Amino acid sequence: AFADVKLVIPAEIFHLTKLYQEDKHEKKVNLGVGAYRTEDNKPLVLPIVKKCEFEVVNDLTLNHEYLPMSGNPDFIKVATELLLGSDCKALQEKRVAAVQTVSGTSACRLAADFLAKRLKRRAVFFPDPTWENHGEIFKHAGFKQFKNYAYWHKKRRQIDMSKLLVDLASATEGSVVLLHGSAHNPTGMDLTKKQWKQVAEVIKCNNLFPIIDTAYQGFATGDPDRDAWAIRYFANQGIELMAAQSFSKNMGLYNERVGSLVTIIKDPKLVPALISEQMLYVRPNYSNPPAFGSRVVAKVLGDKKNKEEWLKTLREMTDRVKTMRKELLQKLQKLNTPGRWDHIVKQRGMFSFTGLNEQQVARLIKEKHIYLTRTGRINICGLNTKNIDYVAESICQIVKE
Ligand code: LMR
Repeated sequence: AFADVKLVIPAEIFHLTKLYQEDKHEKKVNLGVGAYRTEDNKPLVLPIVKKCEFEVVNDLTLNHEYLPMSGNPDFIKVATELLLGSDCKALQEKRVAAVQTVSGTSACRLAADFLAKRLKRRAVFFPDPTWENHGEIFKHAGFKQFKNYAYWHKKRRQIDMSKLLVDLASATEGSVVLLHGSAHNPTGMDLTKKQWKQVAEVIKCNNLFPIIDTAYQGFATGDPDRDAWAIRYFANQGIELMAAQSFSKNMGLYNERVGSLVTIIKDPKLVPALISEQMLYVRPNYSNPPAFGSRVVAKVLGDKKNKEEWLKTLREMTDRVKTMRKELLQKLQKLNTPGRWDHIVKQRGMFSFTGLNEQQVARLIKEKHIYLTRTGRINICGLNTKNIDYVAESICQIVKE
């Protein structure tokens, strides 16, 4: 039965990590997977997360009973408030249906399942480019029409706003539009408030359905409230929407798989029914979500002092990323690297879409042992004061040749 199975590479991003780990070169640098690294090139367990983990482990009242299929209510409450703000009108009017998911990926998948199978949506619009997994998720859920709306202007290295609006205006009524709430992956380039307002207008006029992927709340500016501006604006405009939330990046809980799907609707009476119907897609998929990470997040966000400590670390992480952006730009300019590079400091979050082409990327990997995706995306968190000169010199040399 298995005779024709073939070895494939299911995800470039994890393949790059493997190649990096196997590489013995002393100067190797991993700018691939979107995960934070300290100045010493180490993964960071946030101190407040560690403290709350101990508390969860030592809480003898807790057990390993199944969570409800919709997840841990304490987690859902604080996570939803973090996303929408506690003064959110939709929350006060009880128009928000939130369920815990197996991080952002399964939040996207649940959204896609529900939209395709229950609401019979067929067309989805993704920004060009988008996270490599989005297309697969929507394909597996049953979407049939995959379209791109313009986002990144390759030559100008900025958002192609006029084309973006034209593309969305051409979307037929009921189409699903995927948006990145903040710290767009892979470009690192976010819409301004004025541009978000324009997008909201088109969405309302054409009666499109937005899904806002919020995998990086807090990672763009260091302030989760500022990073949630767009989704809160959409909610205040009375737009029905879904949001995929993740705590992988902003709490460094990558392998705990903590997230949620938040659906904002017009009629509060429908919330229980909506959640119950979403469970029809959860049950045959993962049945119910894991508890541990959700308990940790509930402790971090559920206590004022803990939350402050988390915000402090979040700012430290984003500040380090901003410093690395500035230094990389300065070094590339000092080396007289051909081309313009100032987009590096205009971009936000973990990533920079450098503009390096596939050939240049292949050479950086092969000759310089610097790992990055073939789209030219680099994870700025992988830079530190010890490797940044080597990275800048390598980029400069490859671009010149
Ligand atoms: C990334 O884009 O590097 C991360 O979101 C990890 C992933 O799952 O792709």
